[in-house]
Amino acid sequence: MNGRSRPARSPRLRTGGDLLKYANRKMRQAGVSHGQGFLGPEEESLTLLGHALGLEWEALPACFRKAVAPAAASRFLELLRRRTEERVPTAYLVGEAWLGGLRFKVDERVIIPRSYFVELIPEVIPAWLPPAESIRRVADVCTGSGCLAVLLARRFPRADVDATDLSADALAVAAENVAAHGLKDRIRLHRTDVMRSLSGRRRYDLIISNPPYEPASVLRRLPAEFRKEPPGSLVSGKDGLDVIRRLLREAAASLLPHGALVIEVGGLRQAMERAWPDLRICWLPTADGSDCVGLIHAADLAALTKPGRPSATRGRPAPRGRARGRNRAR
Ligand SMILES: C[S@@+](CC[C@H](N)C(=O)[O-])C[C@H]1O[C@@H](n2cnc3c(N)ncnc32)[C@H](O)[C@@H]1O
Repeated sequence: MNGRSRPARSPRLRTGGDLLKYANRKMRQAGVSHGQGFLGPEEESLTLLGHALGLEWEALPACFRKAVAPAAASRFLELLRRRTEERVPTAYLVGEAWLGGLRFKVDERVIIPRSYFVELIPEVIPAWLPPAESIRRVADVCTGSGCLAVLLARRFPRADVDATDLSADALAVAAENVAAHGLKDRIRLHRTDVMRSLSGRRRYDLIISNPPYEPASVLRRLPAEFRKEPPGSLVSGKDGLDVIRRLLREAAASLLPHGALVIEVGGLRQAMERAWPDLRICWLPTADGSDCVGLIHAADLAALTKPGRPSATRGRPAPRGRARGRNRAR
């Protein structure tokens, strides 16, 4: 308890509903930030309550009007204290996060899954590729908890997935998640810098990456809960582009001719367009309109690494069977 007293349980905090209302108010008063896989205090409070009571999400409504046992209420209040005072993210407090309807184990060794790729892997990305059954080799660079590698393996059922990360700690968590999803025979984990140990060895139909992309100066300005995540999963050099620079070079040498590299770049869209003005990047649509995931075709990437050659796919048609929609390709 770090010398702190256990939060006292007020007599008014009797039912699950009382505890939830109290927690929502506490979180608002404390100004906690909810961007780590939750939309607001209600979702975080429910998650903490489910953990304290040992109940699945779907079973929680049953406790809203019932008295909660004192030991479970104390567990909940202690979780709430750690969330609001110590700013420990909810996903670390409960040891799991959900992405694409799947559960992933997480702890302080990995960033909490929340990538935009969850919106794009089911339909948008496959629309740019040959039929899913013919996709055999896929890579997830900077895999963290392994969440995107698992989503890829499920979306492309005949593909082998190579997943890389520089952090041995992250790969240990990824190994647990790969095993928990029964994918040990299809997902190989590699400890390597970007794609170094993969480059030139195999050619991929698809390479995706949600790399660290924050400029170093941003780290100290992030909300306290984000600073609980491994800094190496957020920050990439002075301008945020260090890993992306390497990735563009290494992916160019590793894609099949029909292949594509897809990168999540957060707030770096303009920085990328300034850094690579001749590179054709198709910004894929995301629900919040940030459209910060860029798709680059193998031919365009190859042209980039051969100075002087214009982009090979200017005027490329829209993906198979889809209107271009909100893609803002230049
Ligand atoms: C933003 S996290 C993404 C994790 C996961 N793909 C996800 O979407 O939740 C970036 C990951 O890149 C890893 N990383 C940072 N620098 C790297 C490098 N040079 N080579 C490989 N992985 C790196 C970090 O350890 C971290 O796990």
